[in-house]
Amino acid sequence: MLRQGQIEALIVSHEHFDHFWGIGSTLRHCPNITLYIPQGFHPHGLAFIKEQGHTGQLITVPPDQPLLLLPGLAVVNFPMHTLLRVDGENVLYAQIRDRGMAMMTGCGHGGVLNLLDYARRTFQGGDRIHALYGGLHIAPLEDWDESRDRMVASLGQYGIAKLACNHCTGRRAVEKMLEIGLPVLRGTAQNGSQNELFVGNGDVVELA
Ligand SMILES: [Fe+2]
Repeated sequence: MLRQGQIEALIVSHEHFDHFWGIGSTLRHCPNITLYIPQGFHPHGLAFIKEQGHTGQLITVPPDQPLLLLPGLAVVNFPMHTLLRVDGENVLYAQIRDRGMAMMTGCGHGGVLNLLDYARRTFQGGDRIHALYGGLHIAPLEDWDESRDRMVASLGQYGIAKLACNHCTGRRAVEKMLEIGLPVLRGTAQNGSQNELFVGNGDVVELA
């Protein structure tokens, strides 16, 4: 799809290694793809993008204001400061006709509930969340306590019809979601993806 120009842009969520350092695998097939990064990248990260052969447009998303990509599709850079001096995370919001909003995160450092509530406050129709995909950052290190039980329970109150998680959600968190009957889509555990709880490399999520 990259070689045939069927993918118009790549949204990089943030500068952490498991979300960014594999960028060469995309650029190898489409060096001139348009890239979106959150404001806050370090000079080494910017140099890495060049070293990996990027020749296309590089767009830096400023913090705290939705950048409209198309009618009904926006990227928002949530300011945050986390491990390894990483700043800012891009989150994608899409309005799907007759269904509601879809939110796609890389890791979800801003807190999945905060990010959903942002949609409610900010976007027309944002109170109806249809689908959620990404890193929900509930227990990525597999530590567990009551506050995480409450997060999973709260997630169940948004009426989300499709939920798909990547590894940044945590295995235990996905198991808890399944236990309380949330509509979790399963992956295939192929291409290095850890297990079927996560939708990973080569898996497809159809949001509409
Ligand atoms: Fe992550």
